[in-house]
Amino acid sequence: MGKFSFWPELASNFAWEVDALYIFIGLICLVFGLGVFLAVIAFALKYKRKSDDEIPEQIEGNLPLEIFWSIVPLGISLVIFAWGAVLFFKMSTPPAEALNFSVVGKQWMWKVQHPEGKREINELHIPIGQPIKLTMTSEDVLHSFYIPAFRTKMDAVPGRYTTSWFEATKAGEYHIFCTEYCGLEHSRMIGKVVVMEPAQYAQWLKNGNVAVASVAGDEPPEVVGARLFEEQRCVTCHQTNGVLGPMLAGVFGHNVKLQSGETIVADETYVRESIMNPTAKIVAGFQPLMPTYQGQLSEDQIIQLIAYIKSLSKNDGQAQAEHRVENEG
Ligand code: CUA
Repeated sequence: MGKFSFWPELASNFAWEVDALYIFIGLICLVFGLGVFLAVIAFALKYKRKSDDEIPEQIEGNLPLEIFWSIVPLGISLVIFAWGAVLFFKMSTPPAEALNFSVVGKQWMWKVQHPEGKREINELHIPIGQPIKLTMTSEDVLHSFYIPAFRTKMDAVPGRYTTSWFEATKAGEYHIFCTEYCGLEHSRMIGKVVVMEPAQYAQWLKNGNVAVASVAGDEPPEVVGARLFEEQRCVTCHQTNGVLGPMLAGVFGHNVKLQSGETIVADETYVRESIMNPTAKIVAGFQPLMPTYQGQLSEDQIIQLIAYIKSLSKNDGQAQAEHRVENEG
């Protein structure tokens, strides 16, 4: 693909793109730095004082020169800006067909759940050539999920969902680091990404992971979420006739009209807020009756509830079901 073959790791779709911008900026610094360095030497030699009473000729501005040295750096910085912005938007917009993994940071480990339900700690097994979307949050303090070989890094923020995506392009094992100081064992909050051929990955999903066999519940998050929905009695108000609380089928990913007259899109963050702080955004036509679930659900359980609510939206639900069939087949 016209990439340097001596370049060490081109492990993801973003690796070369990020590097190219980085090298471009590096080269600009080099060219200008060198230019200044050489000019200093040349001028020092050329304008060296030749006698004690020598008085230099005074120069009063030079408009064309000033315009030149204003326009050129402006142009260069706009190129850097545009290039960076395009790449930024690309990196923050996961494709629709991406597999959604959830990542929860916790002092001091990374908990990962695959869309099929399999869980891992400090490891992330993924298939090659498949866009992977990570939806992450934190159970305690700020962490940051960094895969240097993929050139992707995203903060895991308590009380909020952030996303990051990539497509691995080379099989192998790569480091995961936490890059936000998060307490005593921050430096040991590390792990590895294992990139496998799709067939191998399917095999791995089937065989289970001996190392974390003790991690309970390898069920799909939406299945556990459906159970929680019963256990936590969400069902009382949200699944009867929609008098006490809004019905949740077909809500996720769509517009919701609020009491305040505002319209918002029901995304992960909105659903999470509605569970933890139900009176923050009341749906039009309903009373603020719902109690808060703050402190009663773990981050994992909230993610599972959201997965269930997501699966109630028709298209998403189909996609999830199809996905499961694919992986069982
Ligand atoms: Cu988690 Cu640093």
